[in-house]
Amino acid sequence: MSLLQAQGLTYAYPGGVSALSGLDLVIEPGRRLAILGPNGAGKTTLLLHLNGTLRPTAGRMLIDGKAAGYSRSELSTWRRRVGLVLQDADDQLFAASVAEDVSFGPLNLGLSKDEARQRVAEALAALRITDLAQRPPHMLSFGQKKRVAIAGAVAMHPDVLLLDEPTAGLDHHSLVHLLAVLERLQASGTTLVFTTHDVDFAYQFADDVALFDEGRIFVQGPAAEVLANESLMKAARLTSPLVLQIGLRARLAGLLTEADTLPKTRTDALVLFDRLTN
Ligand SMILES: Nc1ncnc2c1ncn2[C@@H]1O[C@H](COP(=O)(O)OP(=O)(O)O)[C@@H](O)[C@H]1O
Ligand SMILES: [Mg+2]
Repeated sequence: MSLLQAQGLTYAYPGGVSALSGLDLVIEPGRRLAILGPNGAGKTTLLLHLNGTLRPTAGRMLIDGKAAGYSRSELSTWRRRVGLVLQDADDQLFAASVAEDVSFGPLNLGLSKDEARQRVAEALAALRITDLAQRPPHMLSFGQKKRVAIAGAVAMHPDVLLLDEPTAGLDHHSLVHLLAVLERLQASGTTLVFTTHDVDFAYQFADDVALFDEGRIFVQGPAAEVLANESLMKAARLTSPLVLQIGLRARLAGLLTEADTLPKTRTDALVLFDRLTN
């Protein structure tokens, strides 16, 4: 059964800007799903529906196959199970210290101070930011703030973690670190859903991708299959990842058989590229 499902979500912002129009999406437990689309496609608006922050004007959300409710207590259960990391950490962090910020969610769950302290210690360790515990969040670097925002979500032990453009603005080192953190989270049972317009990142990291067009998801499927389909990618105003394109060319040239796995990393793609051009 799907963990979360969107059925026919339609949403217009006050003032009439239509952001979602009849959007369907299924979130399967344990997988990594990339929601891909260009700027303004409606990705952030969708994430805000997936944790109940926005309520659709038509259509509905299902949790564990049942229609989601929007009462105070239902929303609080929903947000405990589905964590959201906003694109801009400055929109998420507000407390005087990192530890206090990360403890806010656990304390709100009604956990004791000791339990909350334990959750904070765990989350900071998972993000490798234990040394930042007493620092004021607004004085941290961009990448550090991002880790604090993720730690805040992780401290809630969510079933699903939604991340809005998690790689935007990160340097290579921070990106490698983030991917390692997300991998460990998934290994511990967290379902990952992230938005991005970075097709290379989606190909490298996602099991499944969903493509956006005109306020709808028009295809959701295995990452390599969807990302290799140039006409689908064009419809989403994106291009196929270069690493995947090189793999497909190597296949056409007979360097790879249908049974061989396509390259996932730049290093593997470059090996094929050299063979193709020599
Ligand atoms: N707070 C808002 N008020 C009015 N319109 C908005 C607001 N946020 C987003 N929009 C509009 O909704 C559409 C989808 O935006 P968004 O979900 O932010 O897209 P994405 O995250 O894919 O870039 C865009 O046309 C955008 O201008
Ligand atoms: Mg956005």
